[in-house]
Amino acid sequence: MTTGRLLPMLEIAPPPASAGRDSTEVEDARLAEFRPEPRALPSFYVWTLGCQMNRSDSEEMAGRLLAAGCAEAPSMDAADLVVINTCAIREAAEAKVIGRQGELARLKSLNPSMRVVMTGCAVREMDRDRLDRRFPAVDLFLRPDQEPELVDRLGLASAQGPIGLTGATTVVGRNLVGVAEHLAGTRAAAVAGGTVHRHSAVSAWLPIIYGCDKTCTYCIVPFSRGPERSRPFDEIVDEARTIAAQGFREVTLLGQNVNSYGHDLAPEARFGHVRTERWAGRRLDLGSRPDLAELIRAIDDLRTADGSPAIPRLRFITSHPWDLSDRLIEAMADCSSVCEALHLPVQSGDDAVLKRMGRQYTIEHYLERLERIREAVPEIAISTDVIVGFCGETEEQFESTLRLLERVRYDQVFAAAYSERPGTPATHLADDVPAEDKRRRLNTLLGVQEPIGLERNQAWLDRDVEVMVDAVVPPRSHDHDPVDGDEPPVADSSARRPIGEPGEGSGDVHLSGRTRQNKLVHLLGPASWLGSFVNVRIEHAGPYALRGTPVADA
Ligand code: SAH
Ligand code: SF4
Ligand code: F3S
Repeated sequence: MTTGRLLPMLEIAPPPASAGRDSTEVEDARLAEFRPEPRALPSFYVWTLGCQMNRSDSEEMAGRLLAAGCAEAPSMDAADLVVINTCAIREAAEAKVIGRQGELARLKSLNPSMRVVMTGCAVREMDRDRLDRRFPAVDLFLRPDQEPELVDRLGLASAQGPIGLTGATTVVGRNLVGVAEHLAGTRAAAVAGGTVHRHSAVSAWLPIIYGCDKTCTYCIVPFSRGPERSRPFDEIVDEARTIAAQGFREVTLLGQNVNSYGHDLAPEARFGHVRTERWAGRRLDLGSRPDLAELIRAIDDLRTADGSPAIPRLRFITSHPWDLSDRLIEAMADCSSVCEALHLPVQSGDDAVLKRMGRQYTIEHYLERLERIREAVPEIAISTDVIVGFCGETEEQFESTLRLLERVRYDQVFAAAYSERPGTPATHLADDVPAEDKRRRLNTLLGVQEPIGLERNQAWLDRDVEVMVDAVVPPRSHDHDPVDGDEPPVADSSARRPIGEPGEGSGDVHLSGRTRQNKLVHLLGPASWLGSFVNVRIEHAGPYALRGTPVADA
């Protein structure tokens, strides 16, 4: 492992004074000496792709830049500094960023002081020498574990204090990968310094474990994010306490494998009662260490003066089937703040495919876990991820996945065609399902799931549900009724205006929010409801969303 190193700095010139940004025109020459210095700090724009972990990381980076005195630019073309937080889960995610290189180069020629920093999962140590060629408009590449270096690398005064050990690497397979050794510390410092720039005023991300130790042969994440590193238990509870005091109503605990939390922490006497058994995958000594069950109980225990949970809604993503322990299921059932929703990726409904994928469980095992959780937490909504067209997947094996969907009756399925990722173990298998078949399988699968999703949503008709309103839905440009929930969800959530921005004038507007089961609900109401809980009678159910009318509290 490498130890501390000097951080090479990226030269970033201040924008020309004539740029006018924030400049104060002084009419009277005698006042000239009192004229403020032209802003010498770059304005920044963060472009975030990928999962919630990336969104959370971007909140930290934006917070550090703001704390260093930089202003946020409204768009990429108005920025002096563009930070791209990339995703690499499928080729298409990386291609999106490669496809913008020409545009970025054009912006740089218009604004010669503009700099582009790229971070996130597409910045992997093992590909370091290819990055310049693939992303020619980028000036500086930072691996995900190097993100806390951002302000120092730009030569900006940092409000974060010393960032400690960075740049540590280890070997996974035969590849050099970054290690999230110091991220717990830099996160705690950001929280203590109040510099996390959260995207919403009601719903907060809370990372609890970084990296991934699993063996999924198709997946790039272990190479991008390195091995699993849990944050210290008390620091997480402290952050939850801070979030509650700030008035947030919902917290989502984050990790690539959120439910393997704690296995790498030191045993402690106070956790002597923890005797977690891992039922699949690599055996680990999990005794006397905190686990996710312990953590959600501690967060649920944070109470207001009247004894209700200080954070009314607690969620966590993503869970791996290996670590869905009985202890976790019991804790979910016992803790009133834990939402009745579980995302449990299955990937395939066929044991032979699962084996090739390195998932190390069988469908029988997986179904047994689902049965347990459905018994313990009635009305829990279950969602999953599926990959179609993985190496060697036959038509029959694909049909096993369809049968699994029909049997489990998921509330939501996120499906994607297999995309070979360079350097992953699956590159040793033949990517032999033709693109055309992958596409067809994907469409067939979505066609099977749609009526199931509809049926799951129709079960809520005529019932009153608690909705946490989190967005004003802007009017659409086409004629469709925007609140029917008959259309698949838009992957780009930027279409929904986040909390914190003003609503449209007075009167009722289209609002949307989520039930505890994470169902999207559309309703009409005043924009002032943003961030509050509203009881809604469900009157319409589509496969992807519900619609209803607010009712008085019971
Ligand atoms: N850690 C989580 C999520 C990982 S990424 C988990 O294990 O469930 C989210 C999803 O992307 C995965 O669940 C998987 O369905 C999909 N995915 C990962 N690698 C992929 C690949 N090479 N091609 C297509 N989909 C992939
Ligand atoms: Fe990827 Fe598997 Fe880790 Fe999820 S558990 S991030 S799919 S390797
Ligand atoms: Fe993408 Fe990295 Fe998340 S690959 S899905 S941004 S962990």
